[in-house]
Amino acid sequence: MSTLVIVGTQWGDEGKGKITDFYAEKADAVVRFQGGNNAGHTVIVGENTYKFHMIPSGIICATPSYIANGMVIDPSALIAEIETMKKGGLHAEYLYISNRAHIIAPYHKLIDELNEIRLDENKIGTTKKGIGPAYADKVNRNGIRVCDLYEPALLEEKVNTNVAYINLLLTKIYHRAPIDAKEIYTQLLADAEVLKPYVCDVSTALDALLKQGKNIVFEGAQGAMLDIDFGTYPYVTSSHPISGGATLGAGVSPKAIDYILGITKAYTTRVGEGPFPTELTDETGEYLRQQGHEFGTTTGRARRCGWFDAAVVKYAVRLNGLTHIALTKLDTLRGLKTIQICTHYEWEGAAIDYYPASLTQLAQCKAVYETFDGWDEDISDIKTFEELPVNAQKYVKRLEELLQVPISIVSVGPQRDSTIIIDPIL
Ligand code: GDP
Ligand code: IMO
Ligand code: MG
Repeated sequence: MSTLVIVGTQWGDEGKGKITDFYAEKADAVVRFQGGNNAGHTVIVGENTYKFHMIPSGIICATPSYIANGMVIDPSALIAEIETMKKGGLHAEYLYISNRAHIIAPYHKLIDELNEIRLDENKIGTTKKGIGPAYADKVNRNGIRVCDLYEPALLEEKVNTNVAYINLLLTKIYHRAPIDAKEIYTQLLADAEVLKPYVCDVSTALDALLKQGKNIVFEGAQGAMLDIDFGTYPYVTSSHPISGGATLGAGVSPKAIDYILGITKAYTTRVGEGPFPTELTDETGEYLRQQGHEFGTTTGRARRCGWFDAAVVKYAVRLNGLTHIALTKLDTLRGLKTIQICTHYEWEGAAIDYYPASLTQLAQCKAVYETFDGWDEDISDIKTFEELPVNAQKYVKRLEELLQVPISIVSVGPQRDSTIIIDPIL
C-alpha cells in the first residue's frame, strides 16, 4: 500500500492534473481535498482535452474519484461538470462526494463578486466562484453541508437564516435588490436529488481502502503560495493547498501519508493580483505566455509569467515536506537565449533564508539571479533525462541542487507520454 499527495509548489497551474492522471492508473482512489471550482486542471490524452474543476483527474482512468470534506461544492456547477464529463465518454459511477463537504450557494458567488468590486484596486483577483465566502461561512459555523441537503426542514431553515443576513448586506450596504430564499432552497433540493447517488462518508471509505492496503493519490488544487496561512496573504485562496491540507481535507491520519510530490513549473506563473518577485512584464514574459499557453483554465485570464523562483519553491519544499518533485513545462523554455533562476532574495543588503510574512518586506526584497544558456531543440518526444540537450540537463540539475529534493519526473509536453520518468515513486 502507498499513498501519494500531489501538491502545487508555486501559485497554481503547475500541471497537477497531468501528473495526477499519470498516477491515476496505478491508484485505487484519487481524492481532491480542498478548493472547489476555482481550480482548473487540464489533462490531454491523445485527441481529447479534459478540463476538471471539482472532479478529480483520476476519473479519466476510471479510478474511483473522491470529492472530500475539505472541498467546497457548487452543486449546479458540479452537475454541469458531470454532464460534460459524460459527454466526453467518462463514467460518473466512479465519483463519490463527501457528506461533510460544504456547499457554495448562489449568494456566495454574488458576495465574492461584490467584494471584489468594493475592494476596487485592492481586489484579490478571485475566480468569483464564491470560494472565500463559502469557506467563511464554514468557519463561521453557518455553512450548509452536503448532508444538510437531505434534511429539507433543516436546509430551509439554514437557507432562510443565511439569506436574511445576505439581504441585509445587499440592501443596506450594497444598495442592491434582495435575493429570494425560496428560489435558492428549491434549486438546492433539486440539485441534491441529482447528486444523491454519489454522496457518502468519504473519510470512512478511505479508511477502508487504507486497511485493504490500496494505493491512494491525493490531488491538490492551487499551490503553496496561495495557502491561506502561508501564501502571499491576502492574495491567496481560502483553503490549505499544502500537504497538511490533505489529511484534514480528506479525514485521514497524517500517519497514512507515504510520499509527497511537489508539482513545479520550470518557470513561474500567477493569475490574479498580488506580489510576484520574479515577474517578467517584458517580451520574455510574453514569450513564456505564448509558448506555454498560459491562459487560465477556469477564467481564461492571461497568466502573469516570470523566471523560476527558488525562494518560493524552497519554502514550498519545507511547508509540504516534499519527498519528490515533478518538474513540468520544461519544453516551454525552448528558444530562449538565456534563462534565469532566482536563487534567493536579499533584504537590506543581505540574503534571507525565510519567506517574508509582510508584503511590505517582500516588496523590498531583491531577487538574486543566476543565468543559464538556453536550448533550441524540441524536447517533447524525449523519454530519458540523458537525451535532453546538455543545457536543459544543467538547468534541471541546478534546480535539484537548490531545492535539495530529487526531481523524479520531468514533463516535456502536455500529452500523457511527453513525460520523462526518473523515479516512478509508486
Ligand atoms: P493545474 O491546475 O496544476 O492542473 O495546471 P493547469 O492544467 O491549469 O495548467 C497546466 C497547463 O499546462 C495545462 O494546459 C496542461 O495541459 C499543460 N501542461 C502540463 N504539463 C505540461 C508540459 O510539461 N509541457 C507543456 N507544454 N504543457 C504542459
Ligand atoms: P489550480 O488548481 C491558479 C487564485 C485566483 C486568485 C486567488 C483567490 O488550477 O492550480 P479564489 O477564487 O480561490 O478565491 O481566488 O487564487 N487561484 C488560482 N490560481 N490556479 C488555481 O487553481 C487557482 N485557484 C485560485 O486567481 O488570485
Ligand atoms: Mg489550473
